[in-house]
Amino acid sequence: MKNIFDAPFLKEMTDITSLMYRLGWDERNGGNISYMLDENTVREYLDTENVIREIPTGFDASELTGKIFIVTGTGKYFKNVKDDPENNLGIIRIAKDGTTAELLWGYSDGGRFTSELPAHLMSHIQRLRVNPENRIIMHCHPDYTLAMTQVHEADEKKFTRTLWGQMTESIVVFPDGIGVLPWMVCGTNEIGIATAEKMKQYRLVIWTLHGIYGAGKDMDETFGLIETVEKAAKQYILTANLPKASAITDDNLRALAAAFKLDYRKDFLD
Ligand code: 13P
Ligand code: ZN
Repeated sequence: MKNIFDAPFLKEMTDITSLMYRLGWDERNGGNISYMLDENTVREYLDTENVIREIPTGFDASELTGKIFIVTGTGKYFKNVKDDPENNLGIIRIAKDGTTAELLWGYSDGGRFTSELPAHLMSHIQRLRVNPENRIIMHCHPDYTLAMTQVHEADEKKFTRTLWGQMTESIVVFPDGIGVLPWMVCGTNEIGIATAEKMKQYRLVIWTLHGIYGAGKDMDETFGLIETVEKAAKQYILTANLPKASAITDDNLRALAAAFKLDYRKDFLD
């Protein structure tokens, strides 16, 4: 059996949580990540017959039965993950009943997975239907995206168009646009269901006055989506009160879509 502390997936989790903390996207225990692992890879590092604890999830994720995820712990700080991954992260498998998480490793102080597990697993289910390669759901509280939700209408067509208009690369990176949810109580099955509903068509979902969710096949794709939204939101906030001398037009966006052969939300342009 190989040493789990050498596992590449563990390094990916510790690297990305450290980076996100340094970017200011994850204050205190803000943010959470779930990463679907390959079962054969996990077996190189863990005895998958050895279930440490069973933790009820409070919702049905039968579609993910047998799937294994490494998930950040609830109440845990991203800044601490690198120095103590076994306490701040856990590896769980969804049991046959669909409503139990079998703990295979981690949460060593008796803790449990993020309170946002409903939004994560329900989003995994939706994104896997769209793209069987999808492995990552990432949630965080980036400053400019969050600020933008305070001053911009919570309408996904308008929100997407504004982000596309901030910088040339936006539409290239997220031609599918961004879903927007109104303010809701977090950590509930209800916000999980609403997020997953948006994930049917979007890889990005805004939680108004809270943060953002991203989905992707790997850390780079998922992080890159959120990073690009945050950069565009920063442009918006930095220039919102300044007179505009230049702006990206709908025709500019159509020209970009043609040049990059984008499958984009045409109905988000006028
Ligand atoms: P957890 O500590 O339960 O992951 O919650 C953090 C958060 O961002 C809630 O939305
Ligand atoms: Zn949050």
